Amino acid sequence: MGFSVNSNAIVFCLLLSIFVSSSLANLYNDVDITWGDGRARIINNGELLTLSLDKTSGSGFQSKNEFLFGKIDMQLKLVQGNSAGTVTAYYLSSQGPTHDEIDFEFLGNLSGDPYIVHTNVFSQGKGGREQQFYLWFDPTADFHTYSILWNPQRIIFSVDGTPIREYKNPESVGVSYPKNQPMKLYSSLWNADDWATRGGLIKTDWTKAPFTASYRNFNANACIWSSGKSSCDSNNTSNNSWLNQQLDGTSQQRLQWVRKNYMIYNYCTDAKRFPQGFPPECALQ
Ligand SMILES: *[C@@H]1O[C@H](CO)[C@@H](O)[C@H](O)[C@H]1NC(C)=O
Ligand SMILES: *[C@@H]1O[C@H](CO)[C@@H](O)[C@H](O)[C@H]1NC(C)=O
Ligand SMILES: *[C@@H]1O[C@H](CO)[C@@H](O)[C@H](O)[C@H]1NC(C)=O
Ligand SMILES: *[C@@H]1O[C@H](CO)[C@@H](O)[C@H](O)[C@H]1NC(C)=O
Repeated sequence: MGFSVNSNAIVFCLLLSIFVSSSLANLYNDVDITWGDGRARIINNGELLTLSLDKTSGSGFQSKNEFLFGKIDMQLKLVQGNSAGTVTAYYLSSQGPTHDEIDFEFLGNLSGDPYIVHTNVFSQGKGGREQQFYLWFDPTADFHTYSILWNPQRIIFSVDGTPIREYKNPESVGVSYPKNQPMKLYSSLWNADDWATRGGLIKTDWTKAPFTASYRNFNANACIWSSGKSSCDSNNTSNNSWLNQQLDGTSQQRLQWVRKNYMIYNYCTDAKRFPQGFPPECALQ
């Protein structure tokens, strides 16, 4: 009898562990919390991650994997209420002084005033390629999907599937492009009230702390870089349509709609900043 109870218990444990591990195909497997001393938390069995910021510290996480090209999606719900002075960064980056980086940054605001979505692209350590946007919805009311598509020809920033920015590979005009350095996804919530809101005019209201941003549904459709090799070199990549994806007619129209109605800054039209002429890649954008 003892034996049969025992084996039932073993079967039960096996089933339980199969159940638990399959339901753990989630944030516990995909990301590591990297800083914030308990302010970053994975909860709800790995379905949800929250970052928080108080006067002492912000917090952050990074993907476990490194990618060399991919389509990375995640749903974010930004800091609610008075988020002035806070910045939620969500970006791909490689390491080192000549690093590559593809940035989304969400600059908070007073309640009811619009967040700014700040984007930038660094290659070989050089950035300065900012475009900024307002959103066509309240990003604090619910989760929305923010995506970076990065392939050898272009980088496309999208929000809920609507492209907001396309950055084309500018090697044809003599400018380097991120294509050799694998990147991880990083995200952090931090205080930047010296510049974030109305150029630093509005300071963080610490009586509203802690500030919290939430994340879910991380999805990396990507070439994973490991031990000097890309998973896309060995696998059949015929299904990775994102690897040569470009904007179709409808997406081009959506992009133009965003640029016309929601773009608030474009370095490629900032004549004051570039009195000697715009950077060469601007000819392609
Ligand atoms: C905050 O709101 C002000 C007033 O509407 C606006 O000028 C600014 O661009 C908004 N966003 C940030 C991050 O400052
Ligand atoms: C490539 O194949 C390996 C082994 O089958 C798999 O673990 C990995 O996820 C695949 N990578 C991609 C990008 O499909
Ligand atoms: C890859 O898979 C597709 C079907 O999914 C097939 O048509 C193609 O021949 C395969 N290519 C290679 C190199 O195995
Ligand atoms: C490509 O996708 C189809 C449909 O999702 C799937 O049946 C097929 O096995 C995939 N091929 C490869 C090589 O992954």
